Amino acid sequence: VRKLDVMDGPPKNADESAAIIEELSQTFHVSLAQMKTISEQLKKEMQKGLNQEGATVAMIPTFVSGRPTGEEKGRYLALDLGGTFLRVCEVDLCGNKEFKIRQKKYKVPLSLKEGDFCDLCDFIAECLGSFIADLNPGGSILSTSSTHDHSTTTAGSSSSSSSSSSSSNDSTTNVNNNSNAAPSSHHESTVQPEQDKYQLGFTFSFPVFQTSINRGVLKQWTKGYSCTNSVHKDVVEMLQEAFLRKQVPVNIAAIVNDTVGTLMALAYSVPETAIGVILGTGTNACYYEQMKDIKKWDGGETATDEMVINTEWGAFDCERLCLPLTIHDRKVDRESLRPRQQMFEKMISGMYLGEISRNVILHLIDRHILFDGYSSNDLNKAYCFDTSYMSSIELDDTPDLQETRHILEDVLSIPSTSLTDRQLVKHVCKMVGLRAARLSACGLAAVLKQSNLVSAGCTIGIDGSLFEHYPDFESNMMQALKELFGPYIAYKVKLSLARDGSGLGAAIIAMLAHKNARRGDI
Ligand code: GLC
Repeated sequence: VRKLDVMDGPPKNADESAAIIEELSQTFHVSLAQMKTISEQLKKEMQKGLNQEGATVAMIPTFVSGRPTGEEKGRYLALDLGGTFLRVCEVDLCGNKEFKIRQKKYKVPLSLKEGDFCDLCDFIAECLGSFIADLNPGGSILSTSSTHDHSTTTAGSSSSSSSSSSSSNDSTTNVNNNSNAAPSSHHESTVQPEQDKYQLGFTFSFPVFQTSINRGVLKQWTKGYSCTNSVHKDVVEMLQEAFLRKQVPVNIAAIVNDTVGTLMALAYSVPETAIGVILGTGTNACYYEQMKDIKKWDGGETATDEMVINTEWGAFDCERLCLPLTIHDRKVDRESLRPRQQMFEKMISGMYLGEISRNVILHLIDRHILFDGYSSNDLNKAYCFDTSYMSSIELDDTPDLQETRHILEDVLSIPSTSLTDRQLVKHVCKMVGLRAARLSACGLAAVLKQSNLVSAGCTIGIDGSLFEHYPDFESNMMQALKELFGPYIAYKVKLSLARDGSGLGAAIIAMLAHKNARRGDI
């Protein structure tokens, strides 16, 4: 960063304001040269992860291979744990690329995110139990016609891109079941016959080392979770035991990372989908890898020659080799739940962007550049500056930045702000958001290259609040991809919102897992 001659103290004229704005722009700029280095380094780390266990970028085989056709049919349950809410869904796969979802969201109390994992499992079991009871007031679990239309029901159908050439055979997506037995199946006969149980896809958005489609041990928590009694344990088994304790007649057919659900959900209607990405509370990506290139694979024969790999790219560069960390990033990392972990995620995802911006704002206050040098008790609280405030501030185009004033003065109790203050805060948000989009593009570039899709092209299914709601996030990502690959990339690679990953996607995977398991039983 070129040292600018920016004086501390409030800007006295337009030139001084412009100099501060320029300083912020430089601090958070990710140049083309840096983007190239970052994406090349990430690709190297991905290869390390494919070669051996224990690499920083874990590259986890997911036991999901092949691609959905849109003709899958059946009624399945899906659970989604990983963000702010626990989401429970009933998904009807109707074939013809159509589906229906009934869903309910439950806020996960902070105490459960930090408590004993068994308690969290009991909470999930209770939510699921009450959801099933609501769906089936008559008590029949496997009713095939829906009796309730909840207000949260969403129905989806194929987009216009659904192609008539897609095969109607629903068996081309495979889920590799090395151990088809459901966890805890030895208990089950006492509760409910296996065939009467709902089959569930459990979207668990944390790094899990899978040993089959419905088995896996938690590597570590990420984002805001830190439950005890869970790391290195089989989370599916623990949740299945809670279902048994609470008499919830559900079999966990598959454990699904949210990126994989996202990939499957979009692929259900858009067959060209080859990569799944989350840009939300956390960030991560998955893609199809050739079995022969997964050198660490020791799981034996697989049904196809490709498998979806959950990259866990959020962990990239904990060695701090190439990410352009500022003092603010280092501070956020140092004071986080897990210092020196998930560095890439900490610079990109919604959980941290507000906190980075808050630290930049506090630094400007300490230099007497903002708010006459005064903060407020509210602004001093860690994580009080929500990433959604950044969105609102960036979208604020009133002449005197009224929305920004509202957030700073009414919500965060800064006694008074000048227009210059508000313009500077807006610029902080813009730069932190822009940097996140450019870094995300570096991630996409690495995955596109690794999967040889740069010239062939593909659709990338993306879910998450940043991608969906953050102003200009998508166009900033595409701009960065154009810098990296040339303008033609915009015609080759399509970034597409894929909303129902943890519902639709998880249901598709549960269906295939269950079908394979039954086939295995015969
Ligand atoms: C975190 C998790 C990862 C998940 C991502 C997005 O990075 O480790 O598994 O996919 O958040 O939710």
